[in-house]
Amino acid sequence: DLKGPLSVWKYKALLPVSGEPVTLKEGGTPIYHMKKIGAEIGLKEAYAKHEGMNPSGSFKDRGMTVGVSKALELGMKSVACASTGNTSASLAVYGARAGIPVIVLLPQGKVALGKVAQALMHGARVISVKGNFDDALRLVRELCIENGIYLLNSINPYRLEGQKTIGFEIVDYFGWEVPDRIILPVGNAGNITAIYKGLNEMKKLGIIDRIPKMTGIQAEGSAPIAKAIKSGAANISVEEHPETVATAIRIGDPVNAVKALNAIRKSGGTAETVTDEEILNAQKMLAVKEGIGVEPASAASVAGLIKLRNMGVIEDDERVVCVVTGHLLKDPETVIKNCDKPIEVEASEEAIEKVLGIKKMK
Ligand code: F0G
Repeated sequence: DLKGPLSVWKYKALLPVSGEPVTLKEGGTPIYHMKKIGAEIGLKEAYAKHEGMNPSGSFKDRGMTVGVSKALELGMKSVACASTGNTSASLAVYGARAGIPVIVLLPQGKVALGKVAQALMHGARVISVKGNFDDALRLVRELCIENGIYLLNSINPYRLEGQKTIGFEIVDYFGWEVPDRIILPVGNAGNITAIYKGLNEMKKLGIIDRIPKMTGIQAEGSAPIAKAIKSGAANISVEEHPETVATAIRIGDPVNAVKALNAIRKSGGTAETVTDEEILNAQKMLAVKEGIGVEPASAASVAGLIKLRNMGVIEDDERVVCVVTGHLLKDPETVIKNCDKPIEVEASEEAIEKVLGIKKMK
């Protein structure tokens, strides 16, 4: 009995929250047909689900509306997370909404400006750790265990419960028809695990009859999952020094690695790496050709789509949905670095016409 517009709380019956949730109306994000990019790679049915259209600008809000609701239900007095940026922005937002103190640990110098701005403005205690995300996650786990603080990283099962609604919304949008493939960027590997879980629940309920090929994309310098898929290894080898322009997915030791490998393998999907250059190209293509503004990590899914199509892995008649996970405005610095500067002119009409190469009609 699922009626009404797409949103996380449309699926309340399948979420582990009993009371009134802490909500800012998350989910119900648009799915856009990528006509031009699709045409360039000979794929009619290429779509992007824009998770940047959530309240804090990323898919993390789906997890936090459930996770923070649960924290209150359990009587927790404070919440914390480690983050490459978006999780902390989202937790700060939902903590503010709930009126509960928030602590976030960020890897120093490696978090995009918009995300730090959000965490600060929404009133989180922001701690900059001299180390990478994997260090920050290890530290916050210890901090939470020893001090009775509620941890809201994707090790927390309620986070994944919220994020599984991406899977629900995708099949719901297509009239409960299952797309052939879902492509998403993979960092800590929570989201791919969550979406796969959601789709499996739909299958068990008899709402859908098959699972899309779960396809994970990682940045070349930060790709433990993709490497394990390629080599057929049972588990990942930790990447000690992950590096990529897509700081959101700059993670060497994903906590949900084993579950993610299982999701990819059982669904008949795959994982692939893309270079920073491919990521930035895809970000620009989405922006210029489709009008879709996303942050670099999000563009990894579309860079992966293009690469896998060119490799012949994605077939002509596949319906593919790329999850683009965060908004363009999250990381303005990378954009400014990679676009031409604004053209400076004197404050006169003539000067503007001159730089635009416009000739007067009269
Ligand atoms: N895309 C964006 C924009 C992200 O912020 C993240 C993760 C991912 C993709 C990868 O998702 O970790 O579930 O595989 N960001 C986390 C954070 C790590 O702290 O904001 P994942």
